[in-house]
Amino acid sequence: MQHQKQVAETRRLFDLMARGTTDFAPEIWREPVAVYADPAHAAREQEILFRGRPLAVAMSAELPRPGDFLTDDLGPAPLILTRTVAGEVKAFLNVCRHRGARVAEGKGSNKRRFICPYHAWTYDNEGRLVGIPEQEAFEGVDCATHGLTPLPVAERHGIIWVQFDPKASFDAEAVLGPLDAELAAYNFAGYHFHERRTMTVPINWKLVVDGFLEGYHLRSLHKKTVEPIFLSRHCSAEVYGPNVRMIIPRRSFPEMQGQPEQSWDLVRHTAIIYVLFPNTVIVVQGDHIETWHCYPSGGKVDECTFHLGFYVPEPAMTPSAHEHWRRNMDLVLATVKDEDIPTSRGIQTGATSGAQTHVVFGRNEPALIGFHRALRDAMAA
Ligand code: FES
Ligand SMILES: [Fe+2]
Repeated sequence: MQHQKQVAETRRLFDLMARGTTDFAPEIWREPVAVYADPAHAAREQEILFRGRPLAVAMSAELPRPGDFLTDDLGPAPLILTRTVAGEVKAFLNVCRHRGARVAEGKGSNKRRFICPYHAWTYDNEGRLVGIPEQEAFEGVDCATHGLTPLPVAERHGIIWVQFDPKASFDAEAVLGPLDAELAAYNFAGYHFHERRTMTVPINWKLVVDGFLEGYHLRSLHKKTVEPIFLSRHCSAEVYGPNVRMIIPRRSFPEMQGQPEQSWDLVRHTAIIYVLFPNTVIVVQGDHIETWHCYPSGGKVDECTFHLGFYVPEPAMTPSAHEHWRRNMDLVLATVKDEDIPTSRGIQTGATSGAQTHVVFGRNEPALIGFHRALRDAMAA
């Protein structure tokens, strides 16, 4: 976030604190429980949200060098991302053009060639088919038209977007809209990828995202774990097209009072949470960046798989640095696993219980309302 904007947001939070309040939405919101529990709704989401628009699938820092690649299977189709010799990111379906086997697994570096394990058709990291063993048997198969199927991809401000529709096209600047300059200022591409962990949980994917979008539950659910770190009664929320931002001040935030504005460091004294619509959450944590990429597992309505990524300003070179980030990541996941997920699982089973047709979001949960309004609009379009 640009410093001028940090100053404005710092003032805004001081004002909320002085008035003893948090940002309020104009009115409450009632969300149908079916959005969490109806398999038909999940199937429409798969088409409209997960195939029908670009998704922020990864960060540039996870494949920083030419020859790096990674595969990902959480989206609606198997994906390979590569970085070419020229430094460009490419996205392909991980599907061999011979009989359709997967041409790559996991992730790696210095990879110029992808050799399909089935019959060794070989592709370069620009997706071109460069070798067919016993090629004389494939008369009429033109290498030029049998490369890996490309997906539309864009890399902007250290974030990689892909749309899981080979025929689509999009513009990343337009996707970010009014958030573009703000995200540019973080220089996400300058961070170092530390670790990614993946977890599958028995809840709708939106419940994972919802958990980031209000400070209201910290005082009760996370009373002993997260609440002591934050001033959860004073959060600011902003909606940028379909994307949402929430800022939650740390206990250290009031230290800035009385200091000159040019020294105000909003990033250090808050957690800044972005939902890059629909399924990616970036948390700017002051000393590191967390990313959460959340998907319905295999399109299921009541199961979600997410990657949690940690990006750090300096690569961890010593055992103590590794230990520091390991503990940090363990703590984040333990809180989610022990506190958020069991509660969300209750919401999931409650949604099909017949108890109610809607849940209600309070005026003190404006970021949550912003996210669900964007979902409703996208699904209606
Ligand atoms: S399926 Fe890939 S080479 Fe045969
Ligand atoms: Fe939580």
